[in-house]
Amino acid sequence: MAVDRDSAPMPGQAQAPAPTTAPGSASAAPRGPGGLALDGRGRPIARNEILRNGRLGGIAPSVLAERYGTPLYVYDLDVIDRQVSSLRAVLPAAFDLAYAVKSNPALAIVSHMAELGLGADVASAGELKTVERAGFAPGRVVMTGPGKRDAELQLAVDMGIHVITVESPGELGRLEAIAAASGRVVPILLRAAVTGDASLEKVRLIGDEGAGKFGMDGRDLLACARRAVESPHLDLQGLHAFGASNLLDAGALANHIESTVLTARRLAVSTGFTLRLVDGGGGLGIPYDQDEPALDLPLLGRRLAAMAERWAADPLLRGIRVLMEPGRFLVGQSGAYLARVVDRKSVNGSMVAILDGGVHHVLRPALVGQEHRVRLVGKSNSLAKPRPVTVAGPLCTGLDVIAAGALLVPPDPGDLIAVLDVGAYGYTESMPWFLSHPVPAEVVIRGGKSALIRPRVDPESWLNIQRLPEFE
Ligand SMILES: Cc1ncc(COP(=O)(O)O)c(C=O)c1O
Repeated sequence: MAVDRDSAPMPGQAQAPAPTTAPGSASAAPRGPGGLALDGRGRPIARNEILRNGRLGGIAPSVLAERYGTPLYVYDLDVIDRQVSSLRAVLPAAFDLAYAVKSNPALAIVSHMAELGLGADVASAGELKTVERAGFAPGRVVMTGPGKRDAELQLAVDMGIHVITVESPGELGRLEAIAAASGRVVPILLRAAVTGDASLEKVRLIGDEGAGKFGMDGRDLLACARRAVESPHLDLQGLHAFGASNLLDAGALANHIESTVLTARRLAVSTGFTLRLVDGGGGLGIPYDQDEPALDLPLLGRRLAAMAERWAADPLLRGIRVLMEPGRFLVGQSGAYLARVVDRKSVNGSMVAILDGGVHHVLRPALVGQEHRVRLVGKSNSLAKPRPVTVAGPLCTGLDVIAAGALLVPPDPGDLIAVLDVGAYGYTESMPWFLSHPVPAEVVIRGGKSALIRPRVDPESWLNIQRLPEFE
């Protein structure tokens, strides 16, 4: 039976225009105090982010607040474009990119990624429908994630997506049955469980005894590979492994990719399938702290280029495609959450500013314990000196603190605060219903112009869909 599609690179995954130096051959940018990369004159290179000169994507925050209300999510598409092209510029030709939709599933953002020619990585039927509506051809879509229900697998099979990553022997059996019933040969990857440590030594996938909810241990990988090789309904193409989240260490990321490829090779040799695709997952980090060094892209490029050369000399690896599924790296810095100060007080000598938004919309600080940078935007003529301010939201929980002790000119009620780096796992990872506040609108900016992409939702609208019980 013919395979649904070939295993060629995903359509539209053309590499970026040639970088000025061969991929991977540029030397790492020198680093200054605080780890920021320096330009040729030793000046820190500004971050590629939405806030520049006190404006969000070139627009005064007060204008955005006036136009769309607060709290508000704003994303700068130009920042996304620069992130995409800077990553593409260092990737060797064997690499493709798929945008991890979960990081920001707003239709306008996903559509933008489709226009940029990336692939898409989805984890649910909802995300499959999102990428379909965003204009991704099915052959550019990959699906990975634990607990895929039959209906979700069926949808992916019916759409004919590029590849489905299988997370367990049980899922393999269900997918095989769906493929058989549908008369399809479904391209698959097997997902290897990794321990979260991305160093080459620790990511020994086959034979590992790590625990966790993602992927399979070495024993199950081998068993699933053997079963898939035997199956007329499955086309085993390779391996998937996600190393670690928010990695800022280019060397560790490269080690993870290399060890995944070598593990996939071992699996292919021992079970007899032709290795065509390796998916190294996402995990490319962004600096959340003021002084954190950014991911060293030239170093990453050099390491990947060196390994791609080694693969080219290996008959079993020559011609493989390697997929990376970044989310955070592509969209994180494009986003800001704009909120207005409602109240300011001093509690036992500590200054506290209470906003009209909080962790119900930006859950990450409470979820992973990492503060985001906050900036007072649009306050003019203040001669006051910056001092530590606790920036908190209106929720009745002590968890609702976006930044404890942010160094700010004391904000007054009515002032605007921008929370930075919220383009990934911001709106989508929030808990908007808690305390029945309005759900913020989302807005994109491109070339200094703004557009509403999702309107604000007022509490009445979800009050209106509720019912008092009428028992049957
Ligand atoms: C399978 C998979 N791919 C890609 C990603 C994106 O990761 P990141 O946003 O850290 O790049 C995730 C995140 O959870 C994931 O689970």
